[in-house]
Amino acid sequence: MIRNLKIFSIFNSKGTPAIMVKIQTDNGSYSASIPSGTSKGKHEAKELPVERVLKNFSKIRPRFVGKDERDWRGIDSLLKELDGTENFSKLGENLSLSISIACARAAFENEIWKIHKPRMGMEFPIPIGNVIGGGKHLGGTDWQEFLVIPYGAKSPGEAVEIMVSIWASLGEELRKKKMLIGKNVENAWMTKLDDLKTLDLLSDVSEDWKVKLGIDFASSSLWDGKRYVYKKLGKSLTPSQQVDFITEVAEKYRLYYLEDPIQEDGFRQFMILNHILGKDCIIAGDDLYCTNPERLRKGIKNKATNGIIIKPNQIGTLSLADEVVRIAKERGMIIIPSHRSGETEDDWLADLSLAWDAPLIKSGITGSDMTKLNRLIELWEDIPEVKMAKLPL
Ligand code: PGA
Ligand code: ZN
Repeated sequence: MIRNLKIFSIFNSKGTPAIMVKIQTDNGSYSASIPSGTSKGKHEAKELPVERVLKNFSKIRPRFVGKDERDWRGIDSLLKELDGTENFSKLGENLSLSISIACARAAFENEIWKIHKPRMGMEFPIPIGNVIGGGKHLGGTDWQEFLVIPYGAKSPGEAVEIMVSIWASLGEELRKKKMLIGKNVENAWMTKLDDLKTLDLLSDVSEDWKVKLGIDFASSSLWDGKRYVYKKLGKSLTPSQQVDFITEVAEKYRLYYLEDPIQEDGFRQFMILNHILGKDCIIAGDDLYCTNPERLRKGIKNKATNGIIIKPNQIGTLSLADEVVRIAKERGMIIIPSHRSGETEDDWLADLSLAWDAPLIKSGITGSDMTKLNRLIELWEDIPEVKMAKLPL
């Protein structure tokens, strides 16, 4: 039974306030803290400022005391009911998700990878690591994240080693070329090189490793309502020119993973791109879907993508994110659980990626994000008969 709930104001990796909730049950104390995005989608659930969350918490706290934590889905329904809006704009997704995850932690005594019945031979997700960055995450490039996917790794530990080696070599190369600006919000390198020269360098440096390359274009931040505006490359593209440009880049650099290559409401261009490239490349919708079941259904109907980013704080409770995962998997979509750029040291994303049988997980490769990857390394040792997932395409 839930005996007590507490809330604290903590700080995330960007140094901005975040919250942590702690739930006390008869069995122990269980906490959860929630990350925050920098390049958020406009259809995400609402994150509220910490002071408002603290006030909201004191109003709703009594409703949870005495409840059975094992009914974590019931707790999530209560959160939805107390909020009463479509997008958690009254309570704040940061409040609802922190209670939701802390409660699931209590229900499974910290092992939330068990929310779905564990099977023998569990597959561990291949990490996707951000090595060079730009866009709203700061950096020189227009595109937000240049990504490596170490598909040849035999364990999560080896995957981290490969990603970090590539990241370190890139830093060294950029320094030698005098093209290094520094590190951005996700600890990815910021470079003076333009987006295409960055891809040339990334292709060269990663040549010796068994990795696939990807980009999170975060295209909504290039979109001015009519055109995609590239400051660094000096281009201004219509939606159909953007489709052509992305196709050309994906083919030339043999990209495997394309996240948000089109702005968040461009279902039609997503569909065209998915038609052209979707057999060989993962076309993942992040801002396009915002982990929202209605938007996902629209994407499925239109064959807009073959993959979906899952960020539980875009929707507000674990049960709601779980439902989105269920719908996506039922329709053969590739799910990619993802961190946010303002992370906490909490590692629940790693557990959920296992519970959901995700073939990939998107997480940073240094700083606070190491906690997720370290959790995968820990679970790899703890769970019998494990193997790394295969690339989904
Ligand atoms: P975020 O976005 O800064 O909102 O976390 C990261 C991403 O676009 O994947
Ligand atoms: Zn993204």
